Amino acid sequence: MANNQNDHLWWQNGVIYQIYPRSFQDSNGDGIGDLPGILRRLDHLQWLGVTAVWLSPIYPSPMADFGYDIADYQGIHSIFGSLQDFDTLLHEVHRRGMKLILDLVPNHTSDQHPWFRESRSSRDNPKRDWYLWHDAGPEGAVPNNWLSVFGGSGWEWDETTRQYYYHAFLKEQPDLNWRNPEVRKAMFDVMRFWLDKGVDGFRVDVMWHMIKDEQLRDNPPNPNYLPHMATYEQLLPVYSTDQPEVHELVLAMRRVLDNYDERLMIGEIYLPIHQLMAYYGIDGKGAHLPFNFQLLQLPWEAPQLAAAIDTYEGALPPGGWPNWVLGNHDQPRITSRVGRDQARVAAMLLLTLRGTPTIYYGDEIGMRDVPIPFDEIQDPQGLNMPDKNLSRDPARTPMQWDRSANAGFTTGKPWLRLAGTYARENVEIQKEDPYSMLSLYRRLIQLRQQEPSLAVGEYAPVYTDTQLIAFIRQAEGYDRFLIVLNLSHRPAYFKPKETTQTGIIELATYPEQEGKEIGETINLAGDEGIVVRLNS
Ligand code: GLC
Repeated sequence: MANNQNDHLWWQNGVIYQIYPRSFQDSNGDGIGDLPGILRRLDHLQWLGVTAVWLSPIYPSPMADFGYDIADYQGIHSIFGSLQDFDTLLHEVHRRGMKLILDLVPNHTSDQHPWFRESRSSRDNPKRDWYLWHDAGPEGAVPNNWLSVFGGSGWEWDETTRQYYYHAFLKEQPDLNWRNPEVRKAMFDVMRFWLDKGVDGFRVDVMWHMIKDEQLRDNPPNPNYLPHMATYEQLLPVYSTDQPEVHELVLAMRRVLDNYDERLMIGEIYLPIHQLMAYYGIDGKGAHLPFNFQLLQLPWEAPQLAAAIDTYEGALPPGGWPNWVLGNHDQPRITSRVGRDQARVAAMLLLTLRGTPTIYYGDEIGMRDVPIPFDEIQDPQGLNMPDKNLSRDPARTPMQWDRSANAGFTTGKPWLRLAGTYARENVEIQKEDPYSMLSLYRRLIQLRQQEPSLAVGEYAPVYTDTQLIAFIRQAEGYDRFLIVLNLSHRPAYFKPKETTQTGIIELATYPEQEGKEIGETINLAGDEGIVVRLNS
């Protein structure tokens, strides 16, 4: 396989950056981020060097799940701006040589979507079958034991038409019936609406949920359930998610994209590696990038991560392109999981592995989860299971731009409180500091994009022990790179078996190391990572 960057598509060469629009930049003082705000900050993204921007949902929505409950797939919520603002943003993103990816939420709509309003209006409404309606069991019982991800049963009783409907998430987010061809057509039309505008791809929400068992069989209990876990995890969702028929559907969505040039389909899929791989599709005709959440889900330990990286590389189907994620709007931030120093090593791992990296906004300045007092919690997942500390708000707080009021995010009252430390932890300050997280991210991105070996080269594991992960990246005809990462806080020693490797440290989490020649044994400080340009 050729490793030339020119042989690869933009999303293989590129770095994706996720924006949570509510929290990126407010432009009108209502305390909520918006599209004109994002427009104002495009220079930051260009300066950082990212290739593509993915926006979490910006469509009209009652905001029961902060935009993942969509009431109109072809509009823009007025708090975010207008369709005209969107067109301007798309144009400006493209003008800067970047790409724009939208969130597509095909599994469910808002209960306020006209489709659902019609569907629930009567049993013989033509859209009745667009959603998953079922009769009650004996004595009014729910049709089966399926649970909602956000707590409680997945079934909601509708008194008017005296049936239950299924909702994998909130009751305000009824699931569509993807076995109905009219639903498919309607959603494919939505995709074409945005693709025709020039959008470069979609991140498809909960792709593995889209089709459910036709017989509605009960899910079995999860033998590994522990009380601190979300109630949803009491059962193994083997009949309510990841059904064989979903793959045919993914293929059909992909065919819509393939009528355009080089558009990207990412799938949000939380599944073990081997189940995840099926989403690449037969002959690679499924999702281009089924999101790989290994780095989010595993304990931050060298042996576990090294095993997962190699398992993932080994399991990829022919031609399947890898991808890596450290954070998103549903998960605790990496800095809060592993600490500030280790978060630098995590950044180095994300940006030196083979495969497309996705950066979550704010991670580039090492933003931490912000403690949100109980009475300020907004996230329904947090509100519905108050004792389990499952609110996603802490990872969704406003971006910290500078030391001015509200970190330059808004002139009004921010919808979520900001980190108390923003005056010294922000983009403006970190830009000037060569030792900052922001400088590290920028240099890692630049190096990755300058060096074909790092952008698209092969991956070869070199070594791992209880502290270290080491691997080589190499594209034919270009400089090779050795990456050595200390995932522990204690010093570690790396002595390659073949001691013939020589090279110069090109980039380091402790920049003082840069320019040094590596010896037979490489000494690493705790939380240290290095990228070495090898001599041969
Ligand atoms: C996805 C989104 C999450 C949302 C859920 C329901 O997991 O990332 O934020 O709550 O889908 O749409």
